[in-house]
Amino acid sequence: MQVPTLKWSLLSFTFTFTFTFLLVLLSLNPASSAAVCNTDDQKSLLEIKYHFNNASTFTTWDPNTDCCTNWSGIQCDAQGRVTMLANSIANDVVGEIPPAMGELPYLQFLAFSNLPQLSGTIPSFLSKLTNLQHLDLSLNNLTGPIPDFLSQLKDLDDIDLSSNSLTGSIPSSLSQLPKLRTINLGTNKLSGPIPPSLGSIKTLVQIYFYSNSLSGSIPSSLSRLHELNELALWDNKLTGTIPASFGSFRNSDISLDLSSNKLSGSIPRSFGKANITQLDISKNKFTGDASFLFSRDKTVLSSIVMSNNLFKFDFSKVDLPLGLKRMDISHNMIFGSLPERLGQLPLYRIDVSFNQLCGKIPTGRRLKQFDAAKFSNNKCLCGLPLPPCN
Ligand SMILES: *[C@@H]1O[C@H](CO)[C@@H](O)[C@H](O)[C@H]1NC(C)=O
Ligand SMILES: *[C@@H]1O[C@H](CO)[C@@H](O)[C@H](O)[C@H]1NC(C)=O
Ligand SMILES: *[C@@H]1O[C@H](CO)[C@@H](O)[C@H](O)[C@H]1NC(C)=O
Ligand SMILES: *[C@@H]1O[C@H](CO)[C@@H](O)[C@H](O)[C@H]1NC(C)=O
Repeated sequence: MQVPTLKWSLLSFTFTFTFTFLLVLLSLNPASSAAVCNTDDQKSLLEIKYHFNNASTFTTWDPNTDCCTNWSGIQCDAQGRVTMLANSIANDVVGEIPPAMGELPYLQFLAFSNLPQLSGTIPSFLSKLTNLQHLDLSLNNLTGPIPDFLSQLKDLDDIDLSSNSLTGSIPSSLSQLPKLRTINLGTNKLSGPIPPSLGSIKTLVQIYFYSNSLSGSIPSSLSRLHELNELALWDNKLTGTIPASFGSFRNSDISLDLSSNKLSGSIPRSFGKANITQLDISKNKFTGDASFLFSRDKTVLSSIVMSNNLFKFDFSKVDLPLGLKRMDISHNMIFGSLPERLGQLPLYRIDVSFNQLCGKIPTGRRLKQFDAAKFSNNKCLCGLPLPPCN
């Protein structure tokens, strides 16, 4: 299970970018001081502060100082229009998102996150923020649906609505966002299918839909996302198998996590052609042969987790890629022996327990160092770290 990290780099990028921008501005025009806050914007910000009963997180928002230079979490453009509003980690921000939040027409970056008492729905007046590029309302207590109107905010690059209690389905209209790169809707109560239309957002790099109740099959159209780097669909109720088209991902650096779903059937052979770096398909009901997911020409594959399925194939003939660092095939019906090559891999995690494997565990510097439990409950595996072969 992956924890998204991009938003932090985006955040710091935005800070750095804006800061550099301000410096350039000042050096070009040494006579002017920093921008003075636009009075309409200042009024909106103060309404937000008063709406939340002057919560301590707004202490620096003093009407007698300049909102552009002296208020925490605020940045402005050269004309003193507020472009960034960031507020997070506060327990005393209680209530719903106030209408004044929709009255900051130049806002590009809105992060109102980790406010456990921020409740209510995602309000429609946010559709007035037509310059918005970054919307982060994660880790709050928001309810209701993901609104259709998000599709009107054409500059959106990054949407993070994770860790709330949002319900309903993912609107297919999100496919009308031409610049969207990252979408995180993880850890909510979303249901219904993954809209196939998302396959038309050519800019998508990261999709996080984990820990919801999404159902239906994985849309084959997602393989058209040539920039896709991370697809995290774990912990949902997805059915069907992996789309055959997933063998044709153009990007060669993809991490796929489809674990803890209700996926079943055999994995299409064509999927073996994909250049995946990390694959987790554990805790599903996959059957049959998966030996083709390994092969020595899979030079980018570093982690493969396929535990807790119904896979049944001969592991003796598996052609292991030499870059493999993590391999978990436990709790399946895999038979045969462990290939000699296994002893040469730079493994830091391995689990082959609860299968039908037999024969001597290969020697090599690493394998004997692992816990015997990682090789246990097989038909007749022997040798270090298990007892010697007879
Ligand atoms: C918040 O501060 C404003 C301005 O100082 C004041 O008028 C208002 O009564 C305060 N609200 C609360 C709930 O303390
Ligand atoms: C506001 O910020 C400016 C620039 O950082 C600083 O010089 C000034 O002292 C601040 N004013 C107040 C009242 O904090
Ligand atoms: C979240 O909101 C609900 C009402 O919508 C409320 O009952 C609950 O206490 C809130 N949770 C927190 C942590 O504030
Ligand atoms: C996977 O990577 C290899 C080597 O970079 C490349 O030759 C191959 O075409 C790639 N496969 C796909 C499906 O893009």
